[in-house]
Order: sequence, then structure tokens, then C-alpha cells
Amino acid sequence: MAFKCILVTGGFGFIGASLVRKLLAEGSRVRVLDDLSRGDAANLEGLEVEALTGDVRDPRDVGEAMEGGVDAVVHLAAFGSVTESVSGLSENFDVNVRGTVNLLQEAARRKVKKFVFASSGGAVIGRGPLPVSEASLPRPVSPYGASKLCGEAYCHAFAQTFALPTVMLRFANVYGPFSHRKRGAVTAFIKALLRDRPLVIYGDGSATRDFLFVDDLCQGIYQALERSLEPGTLLHLASGVETTIIALANELRKIAGRASHPTHFAPPRAGELEHNFADFDRANRLLGFNPRTSLTAGLDLTWRWFRSHPAALRSLDQN
Ligand SMILES: NC(=O)c1ccc[n+]([C@@H]2O[C@H](COP(=O)([O-])OP(=O)(O)OC[C@H]3O[C@@H](n4cnc5c(N)ncnc54)[C@H](O)[C@@H]3O)[C@@H](O)[C@H]2O)c1
Repeated sequence: MAFKCILVTGGFGFIGASLVRKLLAEGSRVRVLDDLSRGDAANLEGLEVEALTGDVRDPRDVGEAMEGGVDAVVHLAAFGSVTESVSGLSENFDVNVRGTVNLLQEAARRKVKKFVFASSGGAVIGRGPLPVSEASLPRPVSPYGASKLCGEAYCHAFAQTFALPTVMLRFANVYGPFSHRKRGAVTAFIKALLRDRPLVIYGDGSATRDFLFVDDLCQGIYQALERSLEPGTLLHLASGVETTIIALANELRKIAGRASHPTHFAPPRAGELEHNFADFDRANRLLGFNPRTSLTAGLDLTWRWFRSHPAALRSLDQN
């Protein structure tokens, strides 16, 4: 790895837990900045990581996090919920926009060599023709999507104005180990199966998503750090496969050995998209990105992780 020290904001979260492991395995020094609002300290237990508790909205915390030779940043910290962004509009704006600008300013001041921004394919593009790609016109539906598009815009502007080597990565729907605090369909279905409650599907189940296994995503982030890219490069990291929510529920029921586990249908939620999947051709050309984990294999690994980490679920029951 070409960098001396990589700052991962939001490193105690779901994706951070796998990314930090990947970066350590590749021989990097890793520092984490996280306010633990949505993350879990247990996610990085026992790892050689310098962890700072702090808020990306506070420029002093951001300044401190980049002291002492940080030369690359992966900015994952975010108010990451589409549905909560509808009621929590200002907080979503402050964390996702102001927080991102704080980090970009500090990174530009310190001449950081790479700044990777975690964006979102579906939320930023909205209801465009499928599959979405870097050529799609962004028209966010939710405040969360709007804040991520704004973050992308600032990353682009910092590349142009300050020659900061930014890369904006639009993630698909990521799933995998350490997702016990998330509220997406994979986590919700696994929790329901483990707690013997019905699977709740919002809408009629025909909605579609592009599910990407977290290890494949982290390989893409790592490639984006390693490769020399034009500052301000935008890439979709996705599986390229469109899966209905009903098919996802059936796959998980099969993996859990409960083919007839009950389903409850609820009204669709505000801000959510009907259909989404993305083309990752550009990431393939520029990074060699090529997700290898099939949905069945990834769901099986995720199910096994939840089965072997009952403490993660128990800690949520106590909240
Ligand atoms: N999980 C997905 O499917 C998905 C899809 C598209 C984009 N993303 C983006 O990827 C990134 C990581 O997502 P995740 O699923 O790991 O989310 P997560 O909620 O599990 O992790 C986010 C982390 O950021 C921390 N954080 C939140 N606000 C903070 C603040 N103000 N200051 C410091 N830390 C703060 C939280 O405590 C948490 O540990 C986010 O930017 C998210 O928007 C995720």
C-alpha cells in the first residue's frame, strides 16, 4: 500500500469494520474517526487501530484526526438512512454536507494524496432509466440522496479548485457481516428469521435493488486508493444484478432452512425507490473492479456471521 496512514471516518460502522480489516491486512496504518452514533466499538475490538472519538461536524475533531502524517482519507462517516433523512433533514445535512466539507478543507490544507468519498448509486440518481451509471442524470428523491450528491459536488470542486485527488464512489446496496445496526432489507430479514418474527416487506415485494457483498465493495475501495485516477473521478461500485425484494426474502428463507417462514406486507416508505441497479463497467475499466461473490454465497456468509455473533443482536435488544 502506497500510503503511510489512512484515516477512515465512520470506521466503527458496518462498512468500516470490513474496510479497516482489509487495509490492515494490506499492511496500512489505520486511524479511525467516529462519534459512535451509529457504529459499534466492538466492531474493531482487538485490532491495531488508532481510534479517535469525534464528530466530522466539528472542524477541531477533523483537524486532530488528520494530524501526524495522514496521507489518505476514506470518508465513510454519514447520516446513512434514507427514511430517517426525511424527518432528520437538518442533521442529515450537517453530517453529510458540512462534515464532508470540513474533511475536504482539512485534506486540501494538508495536501492529502487521496480522498475517497462514499456516495450512493440509487439515492443520488433517483428514478432514472436502468441500469444507472456515471452518465445518468442525478435527481435524488430523498434528503439523504440530495446530501450525498452535494458531497460529490464538493469533492469535484475540491479536485478542480485545490487539485485534491478526490474519488467519488457510488455504492450499491451493501450487505454482509457487521451489519447488525443497519436497517436495510438483508439485515431486517435475518433479524426477523433469528427472532422468529414475520419478514416485513414494504410494498408488494416487486421493488428491486442491487445487492453488493461488503468484501467486494472493500476490494473496490482499496483499488480506488491504489490506482492513479484523474482527480474528481466518479465510479459506481455495484453488482450489476437486479434482485427483487421477494427473491431476496425467498433466498434468505432457504438459507435459514425455513422456506415457509411468514411474510407481512406493509405500505411503501417515503423517499425509497421502486427499482435500482447499476452498471459497474467504468469501475471495471479504471480499477479492475469485478465483484466475485454471488448473492447466495454472500447471504450465506452474512447469515453465518449473525448466527455466530448473538452478542451483536443482544446488544441491540438492550437499546
Ligand atoms: N450500507 C450501504 O448499503 C451503503 C450504500 C450506499 C452508500 N453508503 C455509504 O457508505 C458509508 C458507510 O455506510 P455504513 O453502511 O457503514 O454506515 P454506518 O451507519 O454503519 O456507519 C457510519 C459510521 O459513521 C459514524 N458517524 C455518523 N455520524 C458521524 C459524525 N457526525 N461524526 C463521526 N462519525 C459519524 C457512525 O457512528 C458509524 O460508525 C456512508 O457514507 C453511507 O452513506 C452505504
